[in-house]
Amino acid sequence: MIRSHIFSYFICLSVSFLSLSRPSFPARNIPDYVTVRTDPADAQNATWVEFSRFLDAGKGSQVSGMAELKKYFQHFGYLKIPDTSNITDTFDTQLESAVITYQNNLGLPVTGKLDSDTLSTIMSPRCGVSDTKHNKNSHVTKHFAYFYGKPRWVRDSPVNLTYAVSPNHTIDYISPQDLRMVFKRAFSRWAQVIPVNFKEIEDYPSADIRIGFYRGDHGDGQPFDGVLGVLGHAFSPQNGRFHLDAAETWAIDFDTEKSRVAVDLESVATHEIGHVLGLAHSSVKEAVMYPSLSPRTKKVDLKVDDVEGVQALYGSNPNFKFSSLLQAEDSSNSGIGLKTRLPKWTISLVVGALILLFCTG
Ligand SMILES: *[C@@H]1O[C@H](CO)[C@@H](O)[C@H](O)[C@H]1NC(C)=O
Ligand SMILES: *[C@@H]1O[C@H](CO)[C@@H](O)[C@H](O)[C@H]1NC(C)=O
Ligand SMILES: *[C@@H]1O[C@H](CO)[C@@H](O)[C@H](O)[C@H]1NC(C)=O
Ligand SMILES: *[C@@H]1O[C@H](CO)[C@@H](O)[C@H](O)[C@H]1NC(C)=O
Ligand SMILES: [Zn+2]
Ligand SMILES: [Zn+2]
Repeated sequence: MIRSHIFSYFICLSVSFLSLSRPSFPARNIPDYVTVRTDPADAQNATWVEFSRFLDAGKGSQVSGMAELKKYFQHFGYLKIPDTSNITDTFDTQLESAVITYQNNLGLPVTGKLDSDTLSTIMSPRCGVSDTKHNKNSHVTKHFAYFYGKPRWVRDSPVNLTYAVSPNHTIDYISPQDLRMVFKRAFSRWAQVIPVNFKEIEDYPSADIRIGFYRGDHGDGQPFDGVLGVLGHAFSPQNGRFHLDAAETWAIDFDTEKSRVAVDLESVATHEIGHVLGLAHSSVKEAVMYPSLSPRTKKVDLKVDDVEGVQALYGSNPNFKFSSLLQAEDSSNSGIGLKTRLPKWTISLVVGALILLFCTG
């Protein structure tokens, strides 16, 4: 009860703040969910919400707060800033080339400007792993990518990896059994396509892959940032650390979890396991290894791009048939446009309904 009061208070607050300070704010294509803050303690420091003011900025533009955008690009591997105490608000040549690389990496039209597509992608929740690419041709074709040095788990074949969820860093609103099922399904998706077996064990410290939910700064130099923003991150092989932001509203079923900022646990888990295995971010929007994921969206099926990427590291599972995946992808292609647009519409509708409910009554 109290929680839902706080929730509605913050929706009204952020909505009226927006309408007061930016009366001519061009809302097109900028996701609504980025204005939501459920709990003041979890309000994200990254303030990606504020980026909406940069719409249509390009080289030569000067907009107050642009320095924060430069920090965002630095954080995700697009910009090298030698002295962070002295960043200007000017859209300079370096920022322009960062935007161009970002648009290439994220499979967006390459305009070099902060058009609405680019800005809404920047403002979307995403994985915390940097987008820096190390396969040289990745800017030419949309593609999967690897970490520097193409690290993989080096074990005798068939590779057996163990995983465990930290007993001390977990969440309590999803039952341990349900959590187990989600991770099991996420691991099995990868195990179906490569000759690698994953087995859950109880002994957390000795597991190859160690999963935990953490809040804020948790000691690995990659602090989490509260609701949305960065959702999780994982380390390249053979490290095995796989962290999720405990501040998110993790969901296993959107029918029971109604929060507008709910994030599908299985989708993020499947993505992070890709990193654990050695895949970096893909520029293919439909791929599981694409860096961003909207709230209330499920993306768990490996795509051809994901499978090609991971099989180049480990080879193919002898039981896996590429032709059936190609067929599945072909038959679902006609529906993809509708499927990805639907959640945004749904979010707008729900936002509208909530504003009416809480702010007028
Ligand atoms: C900031 O950078 C400008 C040019 O890049 C330089 O002239 C100025 O001295 C710097 N200021 C500080 C405080 O480092
Ligand atoms: C991995 O596990 C399977 C079944 O448990 C076993 O047959 C296989 O030998 C193991 N692989 C290695 C390299 O030990
Ligand atoms: C969990 O916390 C307990 C009590 O603080 C501690 O003894 C134990 O080592 C921790 N386990 C892990 C895996 O960190
Ligand atoms: C958020 O900002 C507060 C105060 O500005 C700071 O104490 C805290 O460490 C920051 N949290 C993160 C995750 O950066
Ligand atoms: Zn990622
Ligand atoms: Zn971490």
